[in-house]
Amino acid sequence: MRLPIRQADMRSIEVHLPAGGPDRSYPVVVGEGVLSEVAAMVRRVGADRVAVVTQPGIGVEVSFDRPNIQLEIGVGEEHKSLRTIEYLCSEFARAGLTRRDVVVAVGGGMVTDVAGFAAASYHRGIAVIHVPTTLLGMIDAAIGGKTGVNLAEGKNLVGAFWQPSGVVCDLATLASLPEREVRCGNGEMAKYHFLTGDDLAGMALADRVARCIEIKAEVVASDERESGRRAILNYGHTLAHALEIASGHDIAHGEAVAIGLVFAARLAERLGRIDADRVAHHLDVVAGVYGLSVEIPSVGSADELLALMARDKKALDGLTFVLDGPHGVEPVAGVDPEVVRSLLAELV
Ligand SMILES: NC(=O)c1ccc[n+]([C@@H]2O[C@H](COP(=O)([O-])OP(=O)(O)OC[C@H]3O[C@@H](n4cnc5c(N)ncnc54)[C@H](O)[C@@H]3O)[C@@H](O)[C@H]2O)c1
Repeated sequence: MRLPIRQADMRSIEVHLPAGGPDRSYPVVVGEGVLSEVAAMVRRVGADRVAVVTQPGIGVEVSFDRPNIQLEIGVGEEHKSLRTIEYLCSEFARAGLTRRDVVVAVGGGMVTDVAGFAAASYHRGIAVIHVPTTLLGMIDAAIGGKTGVNLAEGKNLVGAFWQPSGVVCDLATLASLPEREVRCGNGEMAKYHFLTGDDLAGMALADRVARCIEIKAEVVASDERESGRRAILNYGHTLAHALEIASGHDIAHGEAVAIGLVFAARLAERLGRIDADRVAHHLDVVAGVYGLSVEIPSVGSADELLALMARDKKALDGLTFVLDGPHGVEPVAGVDPEVVRSLLAELV
């Protein structure tokens, strides 16, 4: 027998979006065994039919009280493509989906990015509900409305800002997540420790996930289209992207972010923005609390990594880092390449 879910076990966080036009704010529900909230959200959206988009192997089943179709997309970044968008939109059309219907994405960040973009494009936009099943999906990818696919020329080059109508994070789905995927989620989770002064490390998992979502929701609400402040969510990402590319993607994104966070702290110290205690705090959280590796692997020389960082697509003005400092974590453009090179040379 399934026990009823007590309200106290479920947290709901509202993502408030700027006014002007219809209200696009939406709830993110977090808890253990909260999947039944998906059907309730579909009812609230007022959809007639549902198209579920998922991947083989995820095995998370959601029940609906209205007609639904189930679609699977391939596993791996090579399937995060315009071809997959065409496949999904054709299936939506074949099933006769209209603007009154809803897409429900059940999976990690790849599924929510792809299904979100298909929803943004089909009939020029139909509703989407995200059901993230990875830690990274729950605290990052499913929140904030960034959707898209890769091109041969680069990652996430085609996409749209398309906010979901709601997000349901059932922590029970994480039980089957492979260890490496947990590590990747933890890399992103570690980032949130430094964006506010909160003691995330002292929180239980459900509270910590909910708090990370709250932090992301607050940042997205203040800068939905990343024209400024939203860039702080890229803390640790400048070196991370370079390491991912230099390693031919042997180093996964979250693992690279963990290394990038500690490097960013050391760089901030070198630039006189923070002191040694704050660097030690970064090490305590990333290596201590999450047990992640913080050593820079030998995947490229200091010069090679520097060149990759200078080409980062988020860099608007010279070498750009997101760095901790007296005013907290903030984007810093025009960082002296010689300081970065000498620090890298010491650490690589
Ligand atoms: N839109 C955004 O703001 C945003 C932010 C960060 C990352 N992303 C994107 O998210 C993607 C990475 O997401 P991810 O880390 O969730 O990886 P992923 O979606 O590729 O999933 C990783 C693997 O775990 C499997 N999986 C998912 N849930 C599972 C479960 N509960 N049990 C067992 N296996 C499960 C998947 O099938 C896949 O094989 C990238 O494409 C990245 O670009 C988007």
